[in-house]
Amino acid sequence: MSMTDHDGSWNRPLWRSLLPIGRSEQTGGYRRFSFTPAGTECCDWFLAAARDRGLPTEVDRNGNLWAWWNPPGDAAADRSVITGSHLDSVPDGGAFDGPLGIVSAFLAIDSLVARGLAPVRPLGVVAFVEEEGARFGIACLGSRLLTGAVSADAARALTDADGVCLAEAMAQEGLTAAAIGADPRRLDQIGLFVELHIEQGSALASLGAAVGVATSIWPHGRWRIDFTGRADHAGTTRLADRRDPMLAYAATVLGARTAAAELAALATFGKVIAVPGASNAICAAVHAWLDARAPDEARLIALVGRVTAAAEQAAAEQGVQVSHRCESFSPLVDFDPALRDRVVAALQSRGVTAPALATGAGHDAGVLATVIPTAMLFVRNQTGVSHSPHEHAEPADCEAGVAALAAVLEEFACR
Ligand code: GLV
Ligand code: MN
Ligand code: MN
Repeated sequence: MSMTDHDGSWNRPLWRSLLPIGRSEQTGGYRRFSFTPAGTECCDWFLAAARDRGLPTEVDRNGNLWAWWNPPGDAAADRSVITGSHLDSVPDGGAFDGPLGIVSAFLAIDSLVARGLAPVRPLGVVAFVEEEGARFGIACLGSRLLTGAVSADAARALTDADGVCLAEAMAQEGLTAAAIGADPRRLDQIGLFVELHIEQGSALASLGAAVGVATSIWPHGRWRIDFTGRADHAGTTRLADRRDPMLAYAATVLGARTAAAELAALATFGKVIAVPGASNAICAAVHAWLDARAPDEARLIALVGRVTAAAEQAAAEQGVQVSHRCESFSPLVDFDPALRDRVVAALQSRGVTAPALATGAGHDAGVLATVIPTAMLFVRNQTGVSHSPHEHAEPADCEAGVAALAAVLEEFACR
């Protein structure tokens, strides 16, 4: 069977079976939000993939899914090797961000089985819930709950855009939020986490390499900024009489762009809600979300300081109120260099040169790296486009990723 189907997409049945779930016919993008029917269909797909391979599964207290080859027993002498990623998406996300790591995990296991290899320690595949934070605002919620980086109470207080709280959302999909929270026993049992992910940039394409390994993740976070003005008639309110929050918001966007350019950082407003949202009315409020990222924390703090200062100045000029709060923060992650060297060497011994790269994208691996040895593999993305329906990895590169992940699992779980 060819790796590539007639439409140029990856022709692995496991990959193809996931493609229809949660895809918008209008945009071709994915809307796989946590604790929704599409999210649950993704979970069912995961459980079926595990079942087809005879791997027992469990849903942990936080809604993360686990499939085990050689499950850990109570007296497991040896810590487990875990691989996986996430199945949820941003609104109209691509097919690869998250799912590539999970499909590759199952296919890597298939290839070890086909070669007659077996793990000498527990080997698990995980699907973390709500990695994108698209529904409840906090990125990597499932892994943060697991490690205790987010408390159960803070998570239970989260609501989605429709005011549905996490407990209600979980209950709607047959889960309970009563037991969410840190799971130190589960974490203690893990010796290594390795996440394979599509690269969300084009560094590997420039370097001519199909796979790479992660060195670090830029510190980043999300800040909600609320501008409150005064609703009024678009056709009768003189410009001088307006208290228009949209103007303060617009000035803030431009200020963020200037500050990011000067600090060699990144600032994005990708989500904004105008309230009440009438085309013939000055809005009463604008709610906006700043995504800010920088190579180091000092620059990130400076960037956010400059954006919030711009917001305050613009709000004062327009006679509107402004407030802001951090919704999600991820400090700088430096992946363990000794572990990375072992991963690079394992690949090199199989003739694969995997360059090391830093990324500005967040991952569950970044959360786990704070508590357990963690590594990341990246798969080339020729255009670098991600968080978009146009995200794409070539089938040959997906296969190279599977082979690389299989090599890492062989090195760390089968010896
Ligand atoms: C996740 O993809 C993020 O970096 O926001
Ligand atoms: Mn993403
Ligand atoms: Mn991702």
